[in-house]
Amino acid sequence: MNAAVESKSKKRWTLEHPELGTDPLPVAPYLSQKYFEGMREKVFKKVWLCTGKRVEDIPSPGDFFVFDLEIAGAQIIVVRGLDGKIRAHHNVCMHRGNKLTVHNRGTFKGKMVCSYHAWAWSLDGKLANVTEEEMFYNLNKKCLNLASVACDVWAGFVFVNLDPEPKETLLEHLGGIVEQLAGYPFHELPVTWSYKAHINTAWQNARDSQLEGYHLKYLHKRTSPGVMSYAADPNRHSLDYKLIGRHSMGSYFGVRAEANLAPVARLATKYSQTLGSAASALSDPNTWPIGVNPTRSKDWFFDVVYIFPNFHFIFLGNQAYIGHTFLPCTVNKTYWNARCYMPAPKTLVGQFARECAKTAVRDLWMEDGSTLEGTQKVLESGVLKYLQIQDQEIQIRHGSKVMDEMVGEWQ
Ligand SMILES: [Fe+2]
Repeated sequence: MNAAVESKSKKRWTLEHPELGTDPLPVAPYLSQKYFEGMREKVFKKVWLCTGKRVEDIPSPGDFFVFDLEIAGAQIIVVRGLDGKIRAHHNVCMHRGNKLTVHNRGTFKGKMVCSYHAWAWSLDGKLANVTEEEMFYNLNKKCLNLASVACDVWAGFVFVNLDPEPKETLLEHLGGIVEQLAGYPFHELPVTWSYKAHINTAWQNARDSQLEGYHLKYLHKRTSPGVMSYAADPNRHSLDYKLIGRHSMGSYFGVRAEANLAPVARLATKYSQTLGSAASALSDPNTWPIGVNPTRSKDWFFDVVYIFPNFHFIFLGNQAYIGHTFLPCTVNKTYWNARCYMPAPKTLVGQFARECAKTAVRDLWMEDGSTLEGTQKVLESGVLKYLQIQDQEIQIRHGSKVMDEMVGEWQ
């Protein structure tokens, strides 16, 4: 074992953050309806939430998508206005509460018109028309603009904040994350595939499933064979962790060249960014943001950048990344949307390689998802009172602590 590997092996990141403690985490918050309500009132209705969608999803005036935030009982229409600005409004007709749209996405033709009685609003939420207006009594039209929601964009990602008076700006919420990811070419990378699911598990279980690399060489031994079994670094510990305000970053070790892939999958790595491709295959690592492969290690697999509370980036390189959106629905049901972004293939062989990557990542996510409903049942059985958290799971420990502090007293 060389000196660098030995030093990494001995490192204990958690001990550098004594405020985190080292105790096991109690199971109770994962199961508690009161804790869930605390998350709803103190977090999901108060902080900036990444919708998981980008400005490119709604490129033209009138284009919209609906952000369904079930924990808050809210559906938010995010729409591009005639002036090009992106705004957010509750999906609520101000007449008698019909949903303005029943679609997940689409295009409003200049105005948002309710299908029930055809009241209409301009895209900026101003009341534009009340049908048979003379039949109403004392209609105070000034109060009948749509219920708008704070909305802002960072690096092309659309965020909303349900607090009528947000306590911080989006940039204040993101803090040091902005500097870490400055310069990443998000705008150049289209969505290449997307999967979504409702999983019968606590939101915390889903959140945790993408917040540590400890499981990689075990749970993913079929989909990432060999990547984590580098003989010269038997401990395969992570390269770096950073706790940045409420957010965190983990840089995960792996030797992609060691991947024991099937011949077809190996061939695909030459033509598209896949789990087995060299990280530098598509761009020079020296040009990457400081937060992507921050140690500039050649034995780098990927980074997890957790944007509190509901969004996880997985960076596979400077030209391929994944965005996981995890949203709580009920105390034991979670919405999961995973989207992968990489350059559009220019050749048929590139398209073939991308399809190979798609199926490989799909299978890997199936492995991740496979544990979640079973774990929920076990936790509900009451057998386990505490979750054991090791040093390489520091992002889970940190994320839980941040949430606990915001939720406050709940028992
Ligand atoms: Fe995983």
